Amino acid sequence: MASMVKDLREKERKSVKKGGDMNVFVGLIWNCAVELKFLLYALLLLSSLATTLQFLPAHFTISTVRYCLSDAAAATTDTRFSTADINSTSFSPQPTSIKADQRQDNGVLKRAFNPYGAAAYNFILMSAYRGGSNSFAVLGLASKPLHVFGQPTYKCDYQSSDSNATVTTAGVKNLPDWGYGRVYTVVVVNCTFPSPVGTDGFGGRLILHAATHGGGDRDFNITDRIEALSEPPGSVNLSHFTSPPKYEYLYCGSSLYGNLNPQRLREWMAYHVRLFGKKSHFVIHDAGGVHPGVMEVLWPWMELGYVSLHDIREQERFDGYYHNQFLIVNDCLHRYRFMAKWMFFFDVDEFIYVPRKSSLRSVMDSLKDYSQFTIEQMPMSGKLCLSKDAGKIPKKWGFEKLVYRDVKRGIRRDRKYAVRPRDVFVTGVHMSQNLQGKTTHKTQGQIKYFHYHGTIAERQEPCRKLLNDTQTIVSGTPYVLDTTMREVAPFVKRFEHNTIGHLLQTAHQ
Ligand SMILES: *[C@@H]1O[C@H](CO)[C@@H](O)[C@H](O)[C@H]1NC(C)=O
Ligand SMILES: *[C@@H]1O[C@H](CO)[C@@H](O)[C@H](O)[C@H]1NC(C)=O
Ligand SMILES: *[C@@H]1O[C@H](CO)[C@@H](O)[C@H](O)[C@H]1NC(C)=O
Ligand SMILES: *[C@@H]1O[C@H](CO)[C@@H](O)[C@H](O)[C@H]1NC(C)=O
Ligand SMILES: *[C@@H]1O[C@H](CO)[C@@H](O)[C@H](O)[C@H]1NC(C)=O
Ligand SMILES: *[C@@H]1O[C@H](CO)[C@@H](O)[C@H](O)[C@H]1NC(C)=O
Repeated sequence: MASMVKDLREKERKSVKKGGDMNVFVGLIWNCAVELKFLLYALLLLSSLATTLQFLPAHFTISTVRYCLSDAAAATTDTRFSTADINSTSFSPQPTSIKADQRQDNGVLKRAFNPYGAAAYNFILMSAYRGGSNSFAVLGLASKPLHVFGQPTYKCDYQSSDSNATVTTAGVKNLPDWGYGRVYTVVVVNCTFPSPVGTDGFGGRLILHAATHGGGDRDFNITDRIEALSEPPGSVNLSHFTSPPKYEYLYCGSSLYGNLNPQRLREWMAYHVRLFGKKSHFVIHDAGGVHPGVMEVLWPWMELGYVSLHDIREQERFDGYYHNQFLIVNDCLHRYRFMAKWMFFFDVDEFIYVPRKSSLRSVMDSLKDYSQFTIEQMPMSGKLCLSKDAGKIPKKWGFEKLVYRDVKRGIRRDRKYAVRPRDVFVTGVHMSQNLQGKTTHKTQGQIKYFHYHGTIAERQEPCRKLLNDTQTIVSGTPYVLDTTMREVAPFVKRFEHNTIGHLLQTAHQ
């Protein structure tokens, strides 16, 4: 276990570094694009206007320009790829001159339109993963109006390091966020080549060409050339895609945000490590929610190799749906697609439950003919507790003391889901709609999840009302007493103690 863990950490560290370098590179191009734009405008205007310099940004200097130009030049000469078929550059189009309104011979005034800047990026690369001998997924964000109202297209090249030979294929785009995006939408580009690429041991690179195709400005087909993935010599091992996965169960967490309650997260971790077992792994995404108190409760599980923590705070720069959670779950899917037999997608205020007479393994075995199944929700009150707990409440765990289940009828409740990731190409938050194989929703009685809405970001004592009854109505909502989870609590506490000792006895709500 320990060496496996180290192995994974090492891999993580390497790929994190790679991604970092790439971001710096892309960032540089964009930063410089702004400088260059000002330079171009300045040159254009200098001929007619003497006061241009006041338009320059405060940090603009000639050396910035030289730096940017030399860097842009370095970037282009450094590339060993043909750009002949690309109709543009990474930079925004520049008007050759500022157009003015013109009185025409027939007396009509021809009005001018002068574009400045670009408000949303054409593509923001997060990651790219190989998915077999000839197939890749490239994940990122792109301007949503460009996709909704335009027809941007993607093209993929694989350039072998051996011969420099390039093969090209169309990139098939998928927008997995169901139209929820904001300024940006999530894009998963599937690049599948007609035959294996980069499998000769010499390595190579995957290049994505993202073309606006006239969206944004009909006069231009701005095409950005993106080095999405670089495969060093010897790094491609096809047995990765066919050998049995390392993990039985992998949890892909969506973006964690807000002032999270460390005690609730502690309870969630212990509960699910116990449920998922030794061959499981949890990928937690920190979008700003992992403060020092939360880190404290994650740390013992990270040490044991159960948890990988990814800092995704940088994505906040790009306005998408709920901290870009659709991007994050797809990154997790493709990153770990061949490392897990099953992948689960749910939140940290939700607890997967299988009836006591069965085990998670027996349930999963009974669902083995499916590539995906969805899980029914048991909505629990985040406020109602038992009066017999009075006096002991602060010591009790959340799922131990919150025992009233909302049984209001006729409400469509969200479901969560699990997939066999090798059968899935793109995924969502509540299910995947892009997979091969069968999906079932008929899992009642086999597996369900308890949802403690509003408890994970609550730092006060959640119990607000103490009740005796087995059923009750509070503010028009009917509740029944449901102690299913409460009964598991002693086992979970013992498991935590046996696994990580006393470390977390002092965690705070
Ligand atoms: C680039 O675009 C312009 C204008 O859309 C077009 O006239 C030109 O032929 C294109 N060049 C190439 C190499 O595709
Ligand atoms: C891309 O799509 C094809 C066809 O659906 C699929 O076979 C392949 O696995 C996908 N590749 C990735 C990396 O998702
Ligand atoms: C590939 O291209 C690079 C840069 O143009 C060059 O240095 C290298 O020698 C080429 N390799 C082969 C095998 O042609
Ligand atoms: C825009 O450029 C892309 C990539 O070179 C190309 O595939 C596409 O056909 C071009 N679109 C138009 C309208 O020229
Ligand atoms: C490829 O990976 C498998 C395990 O997945 C390993 O046994 C094998 O030695 C690796 N091959 C190479 C060439 O590294
Ligand atoms: C609970 O029951 C006890 C006695 O059975 C009673 O004294 C108490 O008022 C009840 N509490 C509530 C909140 O109904």
